[in-house]
Amino acid sequence: MSHQPDPASFRAAASRFSTGVTVVTSSGEDGAAVGMTANSFTTVSMQPPTVLVSLKRGRTWQAVSTTRRYAVNVLAADAVAICRHFAGTPLAQRAPALDARDGFFLLPQAIAQFGCEVVSTIEIADHTLFIGEVRWCRHQDGLPLAFYASRFRNGLGAEIQPNDALAYPAEGWTI
Ligand SMILES: Cc1cc2nc3c(=O)[nH]c(=O)nc-3n(C[C@H](O)[C@H](O)[C@H](O)COP(=O)(O)O)c2cc1C
Repeated sequence: MSHQPDPASFRAAASRFSTGVTVVTSSGEDGAAVGMTANSFTTVSMQPPTVLVSLKRGRTWQAVSTTRRYAVNVLAADAVAICRHFAGTPLAQRAPALDARDGFFLLPQAIAQFGCEVVSTIEIADHTLFIGEVRWCRHQDGLPLAFYASRFRNGLGAEIQPNDALAYPAEGWTI
C-alpha cells in the first residue's frame, strides 16, 4: 500500500460519507452578505454548543476570517438551485434572498439555522477549520437535502431499526 491514495480514489471514498448540505454565510467588506455551499459542517460539542466548518480560501473564507462570525443554513431538499448558486454554478441569474437576524444572514430555504462566533481556527493545507460557538439556532420540519456519491439526494430514506439485517456486498470494493 502506498502512503497516499490517488486523488480520484480519495474523492470517491470520501463521497460515500453521506452528508447534509449547508450554506455558510457571513458579511463581506461592505457589510453585504457572502456565502458558500459547504458539506463539511459538523457538531463538535453540546456544552458549550459548538460546531465547525472547513472552508477553502475564497470570498466567504475572507469574510469569516475578518468578522469571526458565520451562520450555517442546513438546506431543505428543494433547495438544490440555492446550493448550486452558492457553490458558484448558478442555475438562475437572480441571487437568493437572505434575511438578516442579529447580524447573521439566513436563508428561508433552510430546515435549521445556526449563528456562530469563531472561538478557534485550525489551518490545514488550503482550508481553515472555523470552530464556532453557537449563539443562536432554530429548526423546522422538512426534508433535508443530502449529498452522497457526488449526487444530490432527497435525504430521508426509510428508518432502520438497530436489529434490521441489511444485505450488503461483501466484496464490492473499488480502490
Ligand atoms: C455539495 C458541495 C459541498 C461543498 N462543501 C464545501 C466545503 O465544505 N468547504 C469548501 O471549502 N468548499 C465546499 N464546496 C465548494 C464551495 O461551495 C465553492 O468553492 C464556493 O464557490 C466557494 O465560495 P467563495 O468563493 O465565496 O469562498 C462545496 C460544494 C458543493 C457543491
